[in-house]
Amino acid sequence: MSPSHPEILHNNVKDIARVAELLRAGGLVGLPTETVYGLAADARNPQAVARIFAAKGRPTFNPLIVHLPDLGSVTQVAELGAEARVLAEAFWPGPMTLVLPSRGVVADLVSGGLATIAVRVPAHPLAQQVLKTFGGPIAAPSANPSGQISPTMAQHVVNGLSGKIDAVLDAGPCDVGLESTILAPGPDGLRLLREGGIAREQIEAVAGPLTSDLTPGRVEAPGQMERHYATKAPLHLGGIPQPGEISVGFGPGSADMTLSDTGDLTQAAANLFAILHQADALATERNASGIRIASIPETGLGAAINDRLRRAAIR
Ligand code: TXA
Ligand code: MG
Repeated sequence: MSPSHPEILHNNVKDIARVAELLRAGGLVGLPTETVYGLAADARNPQAVARIFAAKGRPTFNPLIVHLPDLGSVTQVAELGAEARVLAEAFWPGPMTLVLPSRGVVADLVSGGLATIAVRVPAHPLAQQVLKTFGGPIAAPSANPSGQISPTMAQHVVNGLSGKIDAVLDAGPCDVGLESTILAPGPDGLRLLREGGIAREQIEAVAGPLTSDLTPGRVEAPGQMERHYATKAPLHLGGIPQPGEISVGFGPGSADMTLSDTGDLTQAAANLFAILHQADALATERNASGIRIASIPETGLGAAINDRLRRAAIR
């Protein structure tokens, strides 16, 4: 049973120890990472992992990312080939997830019955401290109800999952603001399963050309699900704001709120989900007909931002 309101924990030794204690007891904790807040549980504990799916209302076929403190611990749960090692050395710790052959160490439910496992070494100092204090693999999807906007602040986690989780470790807003880029090395080359916090251009500079595998409908990563990150109010991309709409800008110009007034994609990524939460709240308050977001260029992090916005705009 979870308390009706989660414990709010902070950056101190006692609270980090409390997070580890809750995880060992099979609890669920909102965990800050550099991308978004994760909903953390002990990846070796099937009951704890099952609680993640229940709390999110998540279809069980959609597998979870396992978080580890370093490369050495990754090799205990997954087989790391030569190509994966190059990527790991270039981008970990950081916002990249690799889908690798599993060693079968974590609960079956984590991988949804697949022979592969998705692994990530997060860069956030508190995620690192929790991983080291807990001393085991942590399964963590984004800490939002399935299909809704991802959380980049502790308050988003509380708003979405209160009553279903045990605690949230509050570390302020997430720096990157977009989920990790998911890659699957394989015999036919490196496949991009989800655009994310590391731009395609950066990965290609290290690993050569990527094969995109973002076909909608073929659910291998959540980015491949059609509708996701949904706002309550209808979302429109580009075009001129109409009377009665909430406008979200990018670059100079007037709007109700902005992703970045200087047109900076890194800033826009960091602000994206918080702005969607805010715009949706304002739309409800003003009984607006919808939310209109300025066009974002398709380069660098713009590709992942547009991916999230397109899915959020599907009705
Ligand atoms: O930045 C992130 O990746 C955040 C933070 C918390 O680390 N996590 C996150 O998790 O976005 P989630 O569950 O919302 O998205 C992870 C997705 C899964 O939905 C799944 O589709 C994909 O990763 N995935 C997990 N295991 C997989 C596997 N074995 N093969 C293919 N895709 C997999
Ligand atoms: Mg998610």
